[in-house]
Amino acid sequence: MMIQLKNIEKNFGDLQVLKNVSLDVAEGAVMALVGPSGGGKSTLLRCINLLEIPTAGSVEIAGDRLEFQPGVKPSTKQIQLLRRHTGMVFQNFQLFPHRTVIENVTEGLTTVLKWPKEKARERAKALLEKVGLAHKSEVWPSTLSGGQQQRVAIARALAPSPKVLLCDEPTSALDPELSGEVVDVLAQLAREGTTMVMATHDLRLASRIANEVIVLDGGVIVETGTSRDIFTQPKHERTKRFIATLTHDGHMHGEGI
Ligand SMILES: Nc1ncnc2c1ncn2[C@@H]1O[C@H](COP(=O)(O)OP(=O)(O)OP(=O)(O)O)[C@@H](O)[C@H]1O
Ligand SMILES: [Mg+2]
Repeated sequence: MMIQLKNIEKNFGDLQVLKNVSLDVAEGAVMALVGPSGGGKSTLLRCINLLEIPTAGSVEIAGDRLEFQPGVKPSTKQIQLLRRHTGMVFQNFQLFPHRTVIENVTEGLTTVLKWPKEKARERAKALLEKVGLAHKSEVWPSTLSGGQQQRVAIARALAPSPKVLLCDEPTSALDPELSGEVVDVLAQLAREGTTMVMATHDLRLASRIANEVIVLDGGVIVETGTSRDIFTQPKHERTKRFIATLTHDGHMHGEGI
């Protein structure tokens, strides 16, 4: 398994946000996390790259494993070891506004990994090519459309060759036309065998590229299945209610399901 989460608990003070969450993601698999707002999707993603430290349970990525106990904080070194296996893409892109597109992609390579500048630029160029933005290398992020900015953010996340790509609502800040180009890039990465976990309300995205869909509600996994199972024949009452809300508020695009 590329990712193994065992019995993850996460509390914020008295609020229990994740309850006994266990899941496995095989190498090359794509998992979509869906469910109502506040269900714990972002928190779960952040527990995988340790932006949040789980209260209890264990996280294993690419063979490196960390166990958590209430009140015990892992060392920075332990956190870095796991985090470096991951790349993260956020809803609002989070590009550096005062760096050009290519500098956004090289930044982590030169500062964190201490790559020589030329080598980092070569890698960045190849990635920008992959996401269809080689011609935008030298512009400022603010001159790009949202879909283009998100593709730069994907290139940046992939720059250090992480073992897994984590995406938190990668298309939800985008109009349907622009989200399409981001879905295309993610679909290509999936075909190439990139292991991905994504939180999304975008059923088009989930149904097109996820091998497995997990429904999180109230911090627990209420249902797991293929996208077809979850979106067309949900079993649990809570999943049915959630799918019904999507079909009513415009999130459901109806394509590819
Ligand atoms: N840093 C924090 N401090 C306190 N509570 C938090 C914190 N982060 C998240 N929560 C709470 O944890 C719960 C789960 O939030 P989370 O953001 O993981 O949900 P989500 O499924 O990603 O929702 P959405 O679909 O709206 O993005 C919510 O009740 C939220 O208020
Ligand atoms: Mg969220």
